[in-house]
Amino acid sequence: IENNKNPQGANGSPSKSGNNGQEERILTTRQGHPVRDNQNIRTVGNRGPATMENYHFIEKISHFDRERVPERVVHARGAGAHGVFEAYGKVGDEPISKYTRAKLFQEKGKQTPVFVRFSTVGHPSGSPETLRDPRGFAVKFYTEDGNWDLVGNNLKIFFIRDAMKFPDLIHSQKPDPITNIQSAERIFDFFSGTPEATHMVTFLYSPWGIPANYRQMQGSGVNTYKWVNENGEAVLVKYHWEPIKQGIRNLTKKEAMEIQAKNFNHATQDLYEAIERGDYPEWELNVQIMSDDEHPELDFDPLDDTKLWPREQFPWHPVGKMTLNRNPEDYFNEVELAAFGTGVLVDGLDFSDDKMLQGRTFSYSDTQRYRVGANYLQLPINAPKNKVYTNQRGGKMSFKTDFAPGQNKHINYEPSVLDGLKEAPKPAKEYTPRYEANLVRQAIDRTNPFKQAGETFRNFEDWEREELISNLSNDLATCDKRIQDKMLEYFTQADEEYGRRVREGIQMATEKMMKMKKEMMGTDGPMGNTSGEEGV
Ligand code: HEM
Repeated sequence: IENNKNPQGANGSPSKSGNNGQEERILTTRQGHPVRDNQNIRTVGNRGPATMENYHFIEKISHFDRERVPERVVHARGAGAHGVFEAYGKVGDEPISKYTRAKLFQEKGKQTPVFVRFSTVGHPSGSPETLRDPRGFAVKFYTEDGNWDLVGNNLKIFFIRDAMKFPDLIHSQKPDPITNIQSAERIFDFFSGTPEATHMVTFLYSPWGIPANYRQMQGSGVNTYKWVNENGEAVLVKYHWEPIKQGIRNLTKKEAMEIQAKNFNHATQDLYEAIERGDYPEWELNVQIMSDDEHPELDFDPLDDTKLWPREQFPWHPVGKMTLNRNPEDYFNEVELAAFGTGVLVDGLDFSDDKMLQGRTFSYSDTQRYRVGANYLQLPINAPKNKVYTNQRGGKMSFKTDFAPGQNKHINYEPSVLDGLKEAPKPAKEYTPRYEANLVRQAIDRTNPFKQAGETFRNFEDWEREELISNLSNDLATCDKRIQDKMLEYFTQADEEYGRRVREGIQMATEKMMKMKKEMMGTDGPMGNTSGEEGV
């Protein structure tokens, strides 16, 4: 009996081969033993007690007891799909090789397999997909030179620009450590001490904070990266995914609540069903390019991820298209165990000095060694599709050795003259940036925290601004006056009208809350939601 055949056949339909597939579908243990009774544990008489040598039962139940790994500390709730990336080979009218030597981009029509995971950020793995939250947009490219992960979000910017602050940001967004309830006051307490977050807060509390689903949203690498060409010359780049076929759609709070009343999984379901019916979502990958220097002429630092690079000055150049065309066969193996990280680049792509990017790059693989295990890169979803030959051995759940053909299998070190693995040849021109500065702990100079927040506020359509004001006002009305005052100061600095409208909104929401409280005190006693009306 072959125990590793897909019981549904390769394409999901019942297997047709021999004996109507009966023999091939026989249940076995992981030891390959046929299971002759899957209903009854072995007992002394049919009323028990049970014996300790119930091997099949103990294997079955103890595997079940271990069916979960810790959920991601952020981005726990997600959905994923496989697909393909097709390169255009150009940046505008120029060959892309002028900017990068990364092989996946060079030839027009060159295809690279991808796996994508979309997610919400702050909420646990079973939470509704209608909650206000940035959305994660992580893409793994299985290139001929190894994997490239582009780990981004839908809002193009972020709340903070220094990785030191990330645990504090996330603690403020997660539930209160005593009540285990998310609290608007804790969230805005952090934001009121973090002026650089004002721009992202402006996006998040607008309808852009609740994309209609995963197909109809943009994606962005957010952090600044570099491209390196054959001459070892670099430029700064930012990446953006544009949903070219599906368009962009965001929800009002009311629309989101209506969906949430009926369905916690609408975005996962939407993605899965679209792919099943052959309506494959597509995104075009765009890059913005800047020369590799500090750009003193700009009123922001190109390495500051709280800022957009203005599109008029730094146009979006389409460089390829991604199509998602295959659902996972096993959610856990493919989506839950997928491990993306900002350190995973291929030749021709490089890091910038963006401090968030540097901090992120440590965090991802660190958490994955804890969440999935030391050998997380041996799992099929994470392993590259090109050849892997390493001297790494051992560790929990190591199940194969990366031998090269003809390699001396005794040699798991380098250098060696005894037919071990050898270093790859160096590129003709390496990129070797030069640094000269004092080692310091200091913020960047051009912080400019409010200007782009004001521009984003003014660029919104009327209904988006109205949603923004109402969402902010309702949550801020539940906060300490000191927090309200600080946030109002920030919004006013961004745009006078923005500040004024939120101030009026807070007043109205407070009066409404007082009235409701009075009514309830008169009837059922003091009750009510003091943590704002919705999750973030
Ligand atoms: C997931 C850390 C900033 C996008 C994660 C995870 C960690 C983390 C620990 C869980 C990974 C896992 O368990 O596999 C950090 C740190 C940051 C940071 C320390 C800042 C210093 C950002 C930013 C973005 C982002 C700015 C958006 C551009 C994502 C995405 C995921 C993720 C999309 C989910 C990946 C997946 O689907 O598996 N982050 N993050 N993160 N992060 Fe970040």
